Amino acid sequence: MHVLVTGATGFVGGRLVPALRAAGHTVRALVRDADPYDPASDVEVVEGDLLEPETLDSAFDGIEAAYYLVHSMRAGGDFEERDRRAATNFADAASAAGLERVVYLGGLGEDLDDLSPHLRSRREVETVLSGGDYDLTTLRAAVIVGDGSASFRMVRQLVKRLPVMVTPRWVANECQPIAIDDVVAYLVGVLDAPATAGETYGIGGPDVLTYREMLVRTARAMGRRPPKVVSVPVLTPQLSSYWVGFVTDVPASVARPLILGLRNPVVVTDDAIRDHVHVELTPFDDAVAKALGTGAATDATAPASPPNPEAGSG
Ligand SMILES: NC(=O)c1ccc[n+]([C@@H]2O[C@H](COP(=O)([O-])OP(=O)(O)OC[C@H]3O[C@@H](n4cnc5c(N)ncnc54)[C@H](OP(=O)(O)O)[C@@H]3O)[C@@H](O)[C@H]2O)c1
Repeated sequence: MHVLVTGATGFVGGRLVPALRAAGHTVRALVRDADPYDPASDVEVVEGDLLEPETLDSAFDGIEAAYYLVHSMRAGGDFEERDRRAATNFADAASAAGLERVVYLGGLGEDLDDLSPHLRSRREVETVLSGGDYDLTTLRAAVIVGDGSASFRMVRQLVKRLPVMVTPRWVANECQPIAIDDVVAYLVGVLDAPATAGETYGIGGPDVLTYREMLVRTARAMGRRPPKVVSVPVLTPQLSSYWVGFVTDVPASVARPLILGLRNPVVVTDDAIRDHVHVELTPFDDAVAKALGTGAATDATAPASPPNPEAGSG
C-alpha cells in the first residue's frame, strides 16, 4: 500500500516508518521541517503543517492509507484547540484525496471517566477523525515503554533522582503499559486486517501495574534501590505536576498534562484486537530492559534517525 505517516519525526512515528517499509509498504512521511529528518532513501518526504491546511495539498496525492500520530502538547498553551484544528485539517485533506483507511493512535481511559484535559483531547481528536470520509481504525494505548517516550522518561528520571517520593493517591491507580515494539506491530498489523477498518481497540501489554509498581520495577531494572513511595491524600496531581517538572527534564508543557492524566485508570477492558492482529506481547520488565538499552534490539523498529530527546509526549 502507499501509506502516509504524520508525526514521522516523533517517538512512535520514527519507529513506524521503518516497520512499514519492512512490511512492504511504500511510505511517504509528512514533516514540518525536512532538514533534520533523515529517513531511509526510499521514504518520500513532504513538508506540511497540519495547522496550515494550504500546505497539505500534495501530501495526500496517491495515498491509500494514512497514520495520525500527531499531538501538539510540546508547544504548550492551548494544545486542545491546536489538536482539534490539526485533526480537522487532516480529516478534510484525507477525505478530499479519497483515502480508504486512516489509523490513529490515541489514549486509553474509560469514556465515562472524568478524563484529564490530555486524555479528553485525545478522545476529541478521535471523534474529529471519525468524521472523515474513510474508514478510521483507532488504537488506544496507555504508557508506551521505549527509549524516547516522554512518559517513560519521567518514570526513569524520578526513580534515578528521588529515593523518597511523596505522591497523591494516583500511585495506586492501574495502568497497562505496552512496549513500543508491540505498539508498532499493532499499527502495522491493522493495515492488513480489513475487519479492523472502522473499529476502535484498546491495546496494552501483558502486565497491569499500579504506578507504584511501575516505579519499583523500573528501579529494579536499573539496578537501583526501589524508591520509598509515600502516598498522601492532600497532595493533588496539579501540585505533583510541578515537582515532577523540577525533578525531570521533560518539558513542563508535556509533563503537566501527562501527570494530570494519571488520575484516570488506563487498562484495556476488551481484548478484541487480538482476534485480528497477533502480537507476542512483551512483558513489562523486558520492555524496560530494552528501553534502558540492556535488552535485545530489532532492526525493524529501530528509529530512522536518533530519537529526539523532546519527543514522545503521549
Ligand atoms: N508516547 C506515549 O507513551 C503514548 C502513549 C499513548 C498514546 N500515544 C499517542 O501516540 C501518538 C504519537 O505520540 P508520540 O509519543 O510519538 O509523540 P511525539 O514524539 O511528541 O511526536 C509528535 C509528532 O507530532 C508532530 N506534529 C506536532 N504538531 C504538528 C503539526 N501541526 N503538523 C504536523 N506534525 C505535527 C511532531 O512533529 P515535529 O517534529 O515537527 O514537532 C511529531 O512528529 C499520539 O497520538 C499520542 O497520543 C503516545
